[in-house]
Amino acid sequence: MSNDFPNRKDDFPIFKTFRELVYLDSASTSQKPHSVIAAVADFYKKKNANTHRGIYKLAEEATEAYENVRDLVAQFINANKREEIIFTGNVNQSINLVAHGWGRKFLKQGDIIVLSEMEHHANIVPWLRLKEEIGVELIFLPIIEDGRLDDKILMPERSRRQNSSTLRQPADRSEKKIDVNKIKLVALTHISNVLGTINPIEEVTAFLKKQNPGIKILIDAAQSVAHIPLDVKKLKCDFLVFSGHKMLGPTGVGVLWAKEFLLEKMDPLFVGSHMIKSVTKEKAIFTDLPEKFEVGTGNLEGVVGLGAAIKYLQSIGMEKIMAHDHELTQYALNKLQALPYLTMHGPQTADNRIGIFSFEIPKVHPHDIAQILDNRYIAIRSGHHCCQVLMQTLGVTATARASFYLYNTKEDIDRLVDGIESVKKILKI
Ligand code: ALA
Repeated sequence: MSNDFPNRKDDFPIFKTFRELVYLDSASTSQKPHSVIAAVADFYKKKNANTHRGIYKLAEEATEAYENVRDLVAQFINANKREEIIFTGNVNQSINLVAHGWGRKFLKQGDIIVLSEMEHHANIVPWLRLKEEIGVELIFLPIIEDGRLDDKILMPERSRRQNSSTLRQPADRSEKKIDVNKIKLVALTHISNVLGTINPIEEVTAFLKKQNPGIKILIDAAQSVAHIPLDVKKLKCDFLVFSGHKMLGPTGVGVLWAKEFLLEKMDPLFVGSHMIKSVTKEKAIFTDLPEKFEVGTGNLEGVVGLGAAIKYLQSIGMEKIMAHDHELTQYALNKLQALPYLTMHGPQTADNRIGIFSFEIPKVHPHDIAQILDNRYIAIRSGHHCCQVLMQTLGVTATARASFYLYNTKEDIDRLVDGIESVKKILKI
């Protein structure tokens, strides 16, 4: 590793427990540093009480620890106000909240929601339900051969991709321009969890907002929040969602950020305790932001752990994390592209992509690749990665996927490459 980016494995106890482990499944969930594990344990040891309820000291300290993380998250993504940060369980729950609280309330039949073919199910299924329920139209932006977004149906005048061919162009995927006046929401993943592609969200949103300022933009930042600096003002989005567990934090904590005026107008998805001002036998009046959306007792230790994760990331610096990722990506591309029998999906250059590599060996099931690698203590994911629409576009049912994070090293990539070579030998391909 470069001097600027020392090997970080010592910060992560799992690598002490399993010295041989090469963990390449961070797109699924990341490993946790000592500081996050300690923050969760310390909450239970030193601060455990329910938040926002008791007036005794311990309860106040628990509330303070929880609410401090809201400030930290707001600062981390450059939100205007702490009240714009809503704690949820994960990205799925955050998107469901938007689909229910905003979509079901404000959209009507014929309104267009633009998605892409590289979306995770979390950013497809809630919108499919709205399609069934109220008749909104879903348009999926295709992808081009190198796994990048084909945005020319959105911005034909500006597209730099006029000459690239779109993957598997079916009859229903016409090149017709979408009527921007009918678009109410563009909901896109910032970084594909299968291809590693970083989508040009800033460009797309700036262009669309100029055409129709009423269009709302939702960014699924599940992958990007862990890898690149995020700034909701620069991204010019209206909703941004992410989970804590892919950015070194605990599982079961997610975030919805939305502009305050949208949150004010939205309905909560769940109703019950803590999110009310008053309840009578006839009526409940909901309370103010952000509590309006945080029903019941939350994942208190999880939120506190998320705070520790953000502090850990900030102590390194997101720019440095991004540079390290770029170095690993370039290294991995060179190594993997040198294996002539490997089919690699996704961008073939390190520009605007991160270290997520989906690949196949013809005639070998991805589960067999994963199994053989596991015998060498190399953990990768195989399957559809919750992206069946993308699998259909790629013409496969599954891929093998290796995904890197800040604790990975070039030696890990060498072990992966050796492991892939062993698959070839064992299966006599
Ligand atoms: N979204 C996670 C993945 O890509 C679960 O593996």
